[in-house]
Amino acid sequence: MKTDIISARDFAERIQTMKRAYHEDYYAMYSSLFGGIVTDPLLMLLPLDDHVVHRGDGVFESVKCVHGKIYNLRSHLERLCKSAEALQLAIPAWRENLEALVIETIQAGAHPDCCVRVLVTRGPGGLGANPYECSSPQLYIMAYKLGGSFMTKRPEGARVEISRVPPKNTFFAQIKSCNYLPNVLMAREAVDCGADFMAAFDEQGFLTECATENIGMVTKDGELLTPNMGRILAGTTMRRVLELADVLVRNGGLKAVRYADITVAQLHEASEVLVFGTTRDVTAVVLFDGRPVADGKPGRVYALLSDLLHRDIYENEAMQTPCF
Ligand SMILES: Cc1ncc(COP(=O)(O)O)c(C=O)c1O
Repeated sequence: MKTDIISARDFAERIQTMKRAYHEDYYAMYSSLFGGIVTDPLLMLLPLDDHVVHRGDGVFESVKCVHGKIYNLRSHLERLCKSAEALQLAIPAWRENLEALVIETIQAGAHPDCCVRVLVTRGPGGLGANPYECSSPQLYIMAYKLGGSFMTKRPEGARVEISRVPPKNTFFAQIKSCNYLPNVLMAREAVDCGADFMAAFDEQGFLTECATENIGMVTKDGELLTPNMGRILAGTTMRRVLELADVLVRNGGLKAVRYADITVAQLHEASEVLVFGTTRDVTAVVLFDGRPVADGKPGRVYALLSDLLHRDIYENEAMQTPCF
């Protein structure tokens, strides 16, 4: 049997048959290529010759909007611009419009609680690797369903295992590019070994990060340690939590907060292990490398940091960008 050759008219008809249940979770999408926003997920189209598709040539951010306010948008957009600069993707022309476009996409999606994915891609223009084939970068923004944080769904805490996937080198680890194969392999590893997250280590045996989260620990004498910045993405959540944790250092809740080279042995001895991310918030790890972390229950520092972050998200106007 021969495959159909589909005309533009057939295409319009066929696309109507492609509705899927999970489309319910997609609220709106902006595309610079089409020059507007669609709310019907069937119209969520991206050309095959955009180099992001066949070369992973693009950068992205995931932001969350809670109760109609985007949290920490500035840090996300700064990181997006830094990632784009590292790949010499010409984002600056959009910089001033970017925030307005994110807000408009959220408004079109009409869900005050949502996640927003922002992608800047090399754009369409051939199927080679050479980015100069492409005439102009494109911007795609998608508002979609925000799931609850890890601890609201699983208050007993998370299981973390050690990843076998080689971590990215310093240059690539610090760019949030659309080339996420190591991260994808780690996410798959987690499912395959029944863990919630995988933690990667560099060639020297120092902790790097999880698939799409940062990770740190609390020592027995009350120091909050997170990995040195070289081999990890500078997480907006982790960095904000470290700022918020300052109050705990001042009131004696923590002895110190610092970046450090962290080994597996230190993690085995930790009083707490914590995971940080935009959709994860602060997550308590209760099982690391098959062993309970301390008494195997979410700890005191988890509760304090989680509370500080929660209040920052919901109550700190300086960190919020209203959309409605
Ligand atoms: C590789 C990686 N590390 C860390 C993070 C956490 O960053 P953030 O707190 O900004 O979500 C992410 C987020 O997606 C990530 O992809």
